[in-house]
Amino acid sequence: MRTTMDPDQMLQRAAELTVELHPDSWQSVTTGTGGVAHGRSLLWALDAFESPTTPRAVARLAAERAQSPTAWVDAMESIRALYGAGALYPVGAGPRIGHERGFARESQHVQMLDDEARTSAFLRAIRTQVTSEDIVVDVGTGTGILAIAAARAGARHVYAIEQSVMAEVAEAGARAHGVADRLTVLRGSSTNVVLPEPATLVVSEIIGDDPFDEGVLPTLSDVAHRLAAPGARYIPEVLTPVIQPVRLTAEDLDKRFYTSAAAQRWQSLYGIDFSYLLQHPGRPEAACFERRLSRLPGEAVEHAVELPPIRFPDDRQTYAADVEWCGSDRANALALGFQLTLAPGVELSSLIGGEGRTHWGVMVWVPRPSSDIDLRRPGLVTVKWSGGKTSIALVHATHSAEH
Ligand SMILES: C[S@@+](CC[C@H](N)C(=O)[O-])C[C@H]1O[C@@H](n2cnc3c(N)ncnc32)[C@H](O)[C@@H]1O
Repeated sequence: MRTTMDPDQMLQRAAELTVELHPDSWQSVTTGTGGVAHGRSLLWALDAFESPTTPRAVARLAAERAQSPTAWVDAMESIRALYGAGALYPVGAGPRIGHERGFARESQHVQMLDDEARTSAFLRAIRTQVTSEDIVVDVGTGTGILAIAAARAGARHVYAIEQSVMAEVAEAGARAHGVADRLTVLRGSSTNVVLPEPATLVVSEIIGDDPFDEGVLPTLSDVAHRLAAPGARYIPEVLTPVIQPVRLTAEDLDKRFYTSAAAQRWQSLYGIDFSYLLQHPGRPEAACFERRLSRLPGEAVEHAVELPPIRFPDDRQTYAADVEWCGSDRANALALGFQLTLAPGVELSSLIGGEGRTHWGVMVWVPRPSSDIDLRRPGLVTVKWSGGKTSIALVHATHSAEH
C-alpha cells in the first residue's frame, strides 16, 4: 500500500481498469498492472477523478453529496484504496505497478534479512551467476543487499532500482562497500526507469505471501521488454506455485468459523444471543483465506501439488491454473505457497518442510467448516492469482459432511 497520499497532489486515473461488483455493495477495481482496490464507493470515486484533480477537492465534493457520515467515510476509504492500488496516481509520475506495502519501514527489511533461508539462497545464486561481463539490474533493491552482492561478485555494472525511500539506504550501502563506482541506485518505479545499457542479468525479490501481489509478473514483463538484453538471465529463473493439502484439527476449524460452541461461549461472556451469526457465515471465497500464518497449519496430507511453473521472462499479467489430482487421503484445507528456482540447483520454498522456515506467510484456504476435500476422488482445483486477489475453486472434488 502506498504509505502517504498528499491531499493537495493532482491525481489521475489509470487507463486500464477492471471493475467488479459484489453483493452488499462492495466493488473491486483491478488495474492493468495488478493492483487491486476494494471499497463501497470506488465507482463514485473513479467518476470524481474523471479529469485530474486533488483528493481534497474530491473530499469536498463527497461532503456535499454524501447522504450520511458513513457514505462520506466510504468515499474517502475508496479514494485511499484506489490510490494504494495504483488506480489513481500523481499526474506526471506514470502508473506504478503493485504496492509499496510499507517497504519504507525498517521492520519489513529486518524480517527479510532475518530470513536466512531466503537471503542466503539469493546470495548463493548471485555468487554462482554473476560474471565480470554482466550488467545487472536489481529490481526493488530495498537495503541494497542483492545489488551489493552482485557488485562484490564482480559484475561490470549494477543498476539498483527502488521506489521507496530505501533507495537512499541502498546508496549508502554502495558507498560503505566501496562499490559506488559500479553500483548506481535509481529511485523510482522500475516501470519509469530507463537504463543506459541493457541488463544481462535481472535480479529481483518482489515475491509476496501471495507470490503475485507485489506485481512480479507485470514488473518483470516490463523489465524484459525495456530494460533487459535479449537472452538475459533471471534470478529467480522459475516460480512454481504449489498447493499443499492439509488437515486442520477440529480446534483449528473452530477458531476460523462461527460455531454453536463459540456462540454459546460468547453468550455466556457477553449476555448476547449470537445464534444469528450461524445463519450468516462469511463469504466462502473471501472469509476462509488466511495469510501470513507463520507456519503451515495442521498436518500435511499427501505431497504438495505443483502448479504449472512460470519461467522468467513471462508476459502473463495474472496467473491462473487448473490442476487435477488423485490421491489416497482426505484434507480439509489447502495451503498455497510457492517454490523458487533461483539458479540451477538453488531452490527455495515458502512451505519448507511444513515448518514455515522462511518469513513468507502461508495462505490457507478452508472450503467450509466440517467438510472434507476427498483427494481419493479425481478433482479439479482452479486457482487464480491476480494482483493480490486470489480465488480458488474446487470442481468435481467431493465434499463430504463427515468429519
Ligand atoms: C521484498 S523487498 C526485497 C528487498 C531486497 N531486494 C531484499 O532482497 O532484501 C522488495 C523491494 O522492492 C521494491 N519494489 C517493488 N516493486 C518495485 C518496482 N517495480 N520498482 C522499484 N522498486 C520496487 C519495494 O519497495 C521493496 O523495497
